[in-house]
Amino acid sequence: MQIRDAEPADAPGCLAVYAPHVSAGATSFEETPPGVDEFALRIARILRTHAFLVAEADGAIAGFAYGGPHRERPAYRWSAEVSVYIDPLHHRQGLGARLYGSLFALLAEQGYRTLLAGVALPNPASLNLHHRLGFIEAGVFRNVGWKAGGWRDVAWLQRSIGAPPSETAAPHPPGAPVRLGGPVVI
Ligand SMILES: CC(C)(COP(=O)(O)OP(=O)(O)OC[C@H]1O[C@@H](n2cnc3c(N)ncnc32)[C@H](O)[C@@H]1OP(=O)(O)O)[C@@H](O)C(=O)NCCC(=O)NCCS
Repeated sequence: MQIRDAEPADAPGCLAVYAPHVSAGATSFEETPPGVDEFALRIARILRTHAFLVAEADGAIAGFAYGGPHRERPAYRWSAEVSVYIDPLHHRQGLGARLYGSLFALLAEQGYRTLLAGVALPNPASLNLHHRLGFIEAGVFRNVGWKAGGWRDVAWLQRSIGAPPSETAAPHPPGAPVRLGGPVVI
């Protein structure tokens, strides 16, 4: 198993992991799975500003994690939203935590200070993963989406990375995306 920077050509493998969460259940609030071309564009877009990592085993994508923008207004520019999806064949093997750990290190080095994650409820696996990695619950948006036949609540979690946010003057904004550089065997 290795963790490496994603590339747009990873779209089919990532989609195989992601699409079931669109087609069934409420983990993703998308209603129709994106096509391969659209997913490749998403990877390329994320790589331009943040980081996108995949875990690969025997040439197949076992999971992926990425960071993306939170909101557009400039005061939010030190905050990034993160997400992670692991193929059920590889659940509970520490892969989500490893991918997230590598992703957070890249985002911290780039200059992000706050990570945010939205978790559609119920999702104890995701809540536990985020708690275990130091996230605290910021609050719950109630009935904020309709998916899979019902209104869904979304818990928002947050975690600080990098230097503690104690400055009295604005720090440098995040710089160019930081890459893993080469595959890391885990
Ligand atoms: C959530 C998810 C990414 C976890 O990935 P994973 O590789 O199985 O997680 P890890 O093996 O790294 O587990 C790390 C910790 O997460 C928690 N966790 C993971 N799966 C869990 C489960 N099924 N039930 C309860 N806690 C769970 C545990 O605290 C675990 O630590 P432990 O194994 O020492 O107890 C995975 O279940 C998944 O892809 N789910 C579907 C997509 C999803 O919900 N993504 C998150 C979107 S917000």
